[in-house]
Amino acid sequence: KLRAGSNSTQECKELMSYLPKDRNFFTEHLYQYQGFWYPPNLLEGVLYSQKHFHARDSDIILVSSPKSGTTWLKALAFALVQRQEFQNPLESHPLLHNNPHSLVPFIEAFNFHTQKDTFPRIFSTHIPLGSLPESVQDSSCKIVYCCRNPKDAFVSLWHFMKRLVLKEMVGCTMEEMVRGFCRGSSVYGPFWDHALEYWKESLENPERVFFVMYEEMREKPEEWVMKIAEFLGCSFTEREVEDGVLEDIVNLCSLENLSKLEVNEKGKLVNGMETKAFFRKGEIGGWKDTLTPLLAEEIDKATEEKLLGSAFRF
Ligand code: A3P
Repeated sequence: KLRAGSNSTQECKELMSYLPKDRNFFTEHLYQYQGFWYPPNLLEGVLYSQKHFHARDSDIILVSSPKSGTTWLKALAFALVQRQEFQNPLESHPLLHNNPHSLVPFIEAFNFHTQKDTFPRIFSTHIPLGSLPESVQDSSCKIVYCCRNPKDAFVSLWHFMKRLVLKEMVGCTMEEMVRGFCRGSSVYGPFWDHALEYWKESLENPERVFFVMYEEMREKPEEWVMKIAEFLGCSFTEREVEDGVLEDIVNLCSLENLSKLEVNEKGKLVNGMETKAFFRKGEIGGWKDTLTPLLAEEIDKATEEKLLGSAFRF
């Protein structure tokens, strides 16, 4: 039986011994499982969730690749579905005292049991479509996928890793990390396959999967928050919009607001991660101050190849 813990269980170790592996930037290796790449602890989390997570039809599952807007989406979804309970979101709201990751657990993080029995339950995950626990695939729970431009997601991950796991880094250069990203072996990668699978699903099953771009949400947050609410079955009434409820939620969940709250400036998650690491610039095209033109070109080339024959564009 799989157990939660930092050391891989015997079952996970055995599996890893025959999975393809590739060198990685912050753990020794990534392992390829069901077509996607994971460090050992996350692989174990995925296996654990595949065995033990039981979805309900009413659940909401937020999905993203790392650094594509997960924290923002968690805050928004929580504020949206709980908005009747917290009438004045700017005065007293759980998001003012809790990091969004503490309110919406990851399915693969072993602590999904801690999700309080709120209705509906909200979870998040980075697990690719084909590896979601069977109960998610078999249920009619709603899935919201947030996608981001690959260069910005890559750069965001680079800064996140540098801030968080410097001590454990095995010393890979940005060039090496770009190459790994482009050949698909990044955490939960290939980045493009991850997005494309959910995008296709959103076209085939629009009542099941809603696909949103981080960039579009940044440009027109109110418009997209309205659409997400509609998808989740909690549309805004005209009265709510007139009363400023939509605007309040957008402001409450904005990078500017969340990043300056004490809980997010100085807090730590249960796993010890500093909450401030989840908030940086949130820029569209911010990659330009980190990636050289040559490295940007490598990612563009990989993107072009991956999207060949697809109508999807970042
Ligand atoms: P940058 O590193 O480009 O600034 P994730 O939440 O998936 O880990 O993604 C982190 C990225 O989302 C970071 O991007 C972070 O600044 C940005 N972000 C975090 N909270 C946000 C919010 N409330 N609104 C918009 N962007 C946010």
